[in-house]
Amino acid sequence: MSLSQDFDRRFLLGVPAMDDTHREFAELVDRLEGTDTVAFTERFQALVRHTADHFQNEERLMCECGFPAIAEHKGEHERILGQMMHMLTALKRGRTALARAFVTEQLPPWFEQHAATMDSALAARIKVQALGPAVAPVSLKLEV
Ligand SMILES: [Fe+2]
Ligand SMILES: [Fe+2]
Repeated sequence: MSLSQDFDRRFLLGVPAMDDTHREFAELVDRLEGTDTVAFTERFQALVRHTADHFQNEERLMCECGFPAIAEHKGEHERILGQMMHMLTALKRGRTALARAFVTEQLPPWFEQHAATMDSALAARIKVQALGPAVAPVSLKLEV
């Protein structure tokens, strides 16, 4: 199954800033399939740029909402982005098969798991914060 297929049911988190980016990510991954080497290289480069922005935006959201597991989440972003950069280097050295295998075998399951765990936890935190004072503990101002 492609990543874009049935996207809403599988991946929607309820935070538009994250959902829009994730939908673009899924489409960029899907667009790599069935391409020749030149198109694959160009599209993979575009995916790496998009992913770097995707992670940077999420890390900003984590800071803004005081996400407790920021180090783990950021570490996971760095790990997968490092692998993608490694694959970009491999592509430029003509190792297309290696990069194609990464895209079909490793990237989709990584995204499925990451979206369902770390991104889902971040989205939950953002949604609770967005509810604001309605769910925050009530503080009483007493006139003395
Ligand atoms: Fe994400
Ligand atoms: Fe993430």
